[in-house]
Amino acid sequence: MGRLSAEGPIKVLSIFGTRPEAIKMAPLVKELEGREEFESCCCVTAQHRQMLDGVLDIFRIQPQFDLDIMEPRQSLSTITSKCLLGLEGVLEQTRPDLVLVHGDTSTTFAGALAAFYQKIAVGHVEAGLRTGDRYAPFPEEMNRSLVGRLATLHFCPTPANRDNLALEGITQGVYVTGNTVIDALRTTIVKDYHFATEILNQIDYEGRQVVLVTCHRRENYGQPMEQIMSALAQLARRYPRQVELIYPVHLSPVVQQAAHRHLDGLDNVHLIPPLAADEMHNLMARSYLVMTDSGGLQEEAPALGKPVLVLRRETERPEAVEAGTVKIAGVETGRILEMSAELLESPAAYRQMAHAVNPYGDGQACRRIADAIAYAFGRAQRPPEAFSGKG
Ligand code: UD1
Ligand code: UDP
Repeated sequence: MGRLSAEGPIKVLSIFGTRPEAIKMAPLVKELEGREEFESCCCVTAQHRQMLDGVLDIFRIQPQFDLDIMEPRQSLSTITSKCLLGLEGVLEQTRPDLVLVHGDTSTTFAGALAAFYQKIAVGHVEAGLRTGDRYAPFPEEMNRSLVGRLATLHFCPTPANRDNLALEGITQGVYVTGNTVIDALRTTIVKDYHFATEILNQIDYEGRQVVLVTCHRRENYGQPMEQIMSALAQLARRYPRQVELIYPVHLSPVVQQAAHRHLDGLDNVHLIPPLAADEMHNLMARSYLVMTDSGGLQEEAPALGKPVLVLRRETERPEAVEAGTVKIAGVETGRILEMSAELLESPAAYRQMAHAVNPYGDGQACRRIADAIAYAFGRAQRPPEAFSGKG
């Protein structure tokens, strides 16, 4: 890779649009803003609206550009084309030295493609995650693979992510940094946290087994989501005085309808609006078990010592599975019930999973990414030390 170059401070435009991208980019934006080698600006596509704005508020980020593209039940083509068109003008106006995108959403793919069209270098944060199945997760596996081709700099959370890129022939401009979500988590968790969502202050976290649930992925729409919701309802009915299910429901109408149809009217199920990131992290820290199809929760919960059952057929985050704190429960009612019942009933099975491990980061990811950018632009003598895979 030829050295990247910039005159004066390196102008970095961060592009993001959904809740998880915002949570994971926020600490990096702050890091760039605080360093004199960089001139940092942000463009949000607002692929998510309310769920994005909540994160921008908490982390006090005021984007310079807001494409405001969200519409109800938006299709993948609509998101991608609106982002591409909107970003064209933003890139022409700002002419950054580097565009940063995060992860694997439609915003991520469109952001990288829009920059490529103007021959602007792309840095991919959270690079190298793969399942090897182009349709799972859908469309994220293809989005991140395509961004891998488009990007010049690749910031891999773990050594295994770097190895995935090497298998695709991507070996230049690759840095192992840890995941920025662990940096974010370190700023949000507070002892004796008081929840703004009042119901969460009233839960008996010591006397009950609190199960934190999220479920939203597109590949789970339809039959898998029906099976998952049915398992959750049966779980709640089987343990009426032992278990409390807390489920902040994603604003997607598809998810809202499925969750309310199966779970309304059960006394020990709390369907609540999406939580602010700090509320979510502190709730996770108090929960007994996490059941989720989310990527971010699979990274956060192990750092907090909370067992996770993944409501998907596969995961691109095998590190915590190997460490023993995460298990794939799949998307079939019977198996989900069986695996969750074991963790609720067997203290030995629970203890085996409930230990804090941190294969995803040590809280230094943002500093390493900024150092790596400075190095790639010839502003530092050495690249940052790689994250070892143990936080
Ligand atoms: C998107 C990402 C997914 C990521 C998820 C994080 C794609 C293709 N998918 O999926 O990778 O895991 O975000 O949550 O990029 N909505 C609102 N308000 C909001 C947010 C969403 O009303 O603040 C509703 C809208 O009706 C929207 C729908 O949710 O059309 C779905 O949002 P969308 O971004 O298309 O898909 P997600 O499932 O959120
Ligand atoms: N999250 C949140 N409020 C919620 C649900 C999730 O703040 O009600 C956070 C969660 O802690 C994690 C991120 O959002 O940091 C994950 O986002 P999501 O599950 O939407 O997307 P994914 O990680 O699956 O792409």
